[in-house]
Amino acid sequence: MTAQLIDGNALSQLLRLQVSERIQQLKLQGVTAGLAVILVGDNPASQVYVRNKVKACEQTGIHSVLEKHDATMSEAALLERVAALNSDPRIHGILVQLPLPAHIDAQKVIEAIAPEKDVDGFHVASAGALMTGLPGYWPCTPHGCMKMLEHIGYNLRGKHAVVIGRSNIVGKPMALMLLQQNATVTICHSATPDLKAHTLQADVIVAAVGKRNVLTADMVKPGAVVLDVGMNRDDDGKLCGDVDFESVKQVASYITPVPGGVGPMTITMLLVNTLASAEKSLSTSS
Ligand code: GUN
Repeated sequence: MTAQLIDGNALSQLLRLQVSERIQQLKLQGVTAGLAVILVGDNPASQVYVRNKVKACEQTGIHSVLEKHDATMSEAALLERVAALNSDPRIHGILVQLPLPAHIDAQKVIEAIAPEKDVDGFHVASAGALMTGLPGYWPCTPHGCMKMLEHIGYNLRGKHAVVIGRSNIVGKPMALMLLQQNATVTICHSATPDLKAHTLQADVIVAAVGKRNVLTADMVKPGAVVLDVGMNRDDDGKLCGDVDFESVKQVASYITPVPGGVGPMTITMLLVNTLASAEKSLSTSS
């Protein structure tokens, strides 16, 4: 068997078109959706991510404000900027790019963002809403993974999903989203003694550890769906995921490539969340 690819670029294009149509409708009602992106320091990967986010905003008609600050910016000054954006009616979403320089408490900064503008879904209020099934913004990467499963018409009810990785940004929220769709969920991590014993049981595997070849073909049940959240470099410096793509695609039924899989979906869901926030501002102001 050779797996079918879930094309994150194609799905993103489709969803971004829908977002831009709704952005235009909002404009007709007098609201221009706005996203503020804050970058502190000059981490090269962050610079690329931020540039791509701003570009995606431009392409969909979302007004974006990019604030670049020096790595020496104080925590207090950053908190001040967040407070100013919280009360700026033109801004519906605030994103502080992570990682932040070591002298800044990232969690403190995230908690300073107004939950209704937390389009990254990192605030404890957003995490709590996801945990309890209340409305709130979902973290973009796992949300993008759920959209991919929805796109292939995959029904998670009663299926066994294994999430590899337990980060607050991907692993934990991913597990909660799968659970909400009635999957039986296992979270594996660095202290899991026999990863293969778990993954071999899985109908769906989400690999999100940031390490090459965490998942190889011998660890995958034939016909499983494999989503690769990893962003790594191989020995030639080429972008690759956490999954040994060439071998696993011979066993899986569906698989996401890297690049062109989950990556573009993350930015797409950021646009979706920003649109939702702008639409909400319209309904709460009238
Ligand atoms: N750094 C890596 N991914 C992300 C993300 O999705 N949001 C933010 N704010 N920072 C990140």
